[in-house]
Amino acid sequence: MTPPPGIAWLLQPAAAIPDHDDWLAPAERAVQSGLRLAPRRAQWRLGRWTAKVALARWLDLTRDDHPRLELRAAADGAPEPWLDGRPLPLVLSLSHCGEHGLVALAAAPVALGADLERVEARSPAFVRDYFTAAEQHWLAAAPAAPGADARAERATLLWSAKESALKALRTGLRRDTRSVEVTVIPAGLPAARTAPAAPPTTAAAPWAPLAVDDLEGHHRFIGAWRRIGEHLLTVVAEPWGGGLR
Ligand SMILES: CC(C)(COP(=O)(O)OP(=O)(O)OC[C@H]1O[C@@H](n2cnc3c(N)ncnc32)[C@H](O)[C@@H]1OP(=O)(O)O)[C@@H](O)C(=O)NCCC(=O)NCCS
Repeated sequence: MTPPPGIAWLLQPAAAIPDHDDWLAPAERAVQSGLRLAPRRAQWRLGRWTAKVALARWLDLTRDDHPRLELRAAADGAPEPWLDGRPLPLVLSLSHCGEHGLVALAAAPVALGADLERVEARSPAFVRDYFTAAEQHWLAAAPAAPGADARAERATLLWSAKESALKALRTGLRRDTRSVEVTVIPAGLPAARTAPAAPPTTAAAPWAPLAVDDLEGHHRFIGAWRRIGEHLLTVVAEPWGGGLR
C-alpha cells in the first residue's frame, strides 16, 4: 500500500462511540476494565474511538475491522497504533477535551503532536509560570476589542501548541513548558476576532500556520491551528511534509 502523503486529522464527538465494546481489541478491553474512574474511562474510550476511525480511513478498513486495530500506550504514555498484533508504520497523536476527541496521523518516521483545548482565559500566574517572555509579550499585545476573546484565544493557542510539541517530543509535561516557544505567523491570527455570528458549535476558521522552537534541542516544529466553535486545535510535526489534509 502506498501511504497517502501528509498528516490526516480527525475530530470525533463522544456521541459517536458505540455503547458496546465490540470495537475494542481484547487487550484494550482488559485495559479498560482497569480504568475505575468513569471520567477517565470515557476519555480513554473517546481517544481509542477517534484513533480507530482515523486509522480505518487511512488503511481503507471497515468498522468490522476496528477490533483488529489496537492503540497501545508506550512506556512514556504516547499512543502507538497496532494491527493484528503488529505495530503499524504510522505515528499517531491524540487529545480529548470534554465531549470531543482529536487525532493526527502520519506515516513514520515523523515527530507528531496534536492537542485540543477549550478556549478559556488563563490567570496571570499561569501565564507567568508556563509561558516564555516572548510568548507573554505576544499575549499582552492581544487587542481588547469589546465582545472579542482575543486574549483567551491567544493564551489557549500558546498552551495547546506547547502541548502538541511536548507530545511530538514524547515527554509531555515532564518537560518545562518554557523549553518550547511558540511563534504564531501573524497572517494566521486576525488583529481582532469578534464573536462569531454563527452558533459556536458550527463556526470554524481555516487552519493557520505556527511554529514551535525546541529551545533545548535547537530545532523547530512546523504546525497549524484552527478554531472550531469553542475549541482550538493544534497540530505540529517535524518534518511537516505535505501538511494537513
Ligand atoms: C501528554 C500530556 C501533556 C497530555 O495532557 P492532557 O492535556 O491532559 O491530555 P490530552 O487529552 O491532550 O492528551 C492525552 C493523550 O496524550 C497521549 N500521551 C500521553 N503521554 C504522552 C507522551 N509522553 N507523548 C505523546 N503523547 C502522550 C495519550 O494518548 C493520552 O491519551 P490516553 O491516555 O487516553 O491514550 C500529559 O498527559 C503529560 O504530560 N503526560 C506525561 C506526564 C505523565 O505521564 N504524568 C503522569 C504520570 S502517571
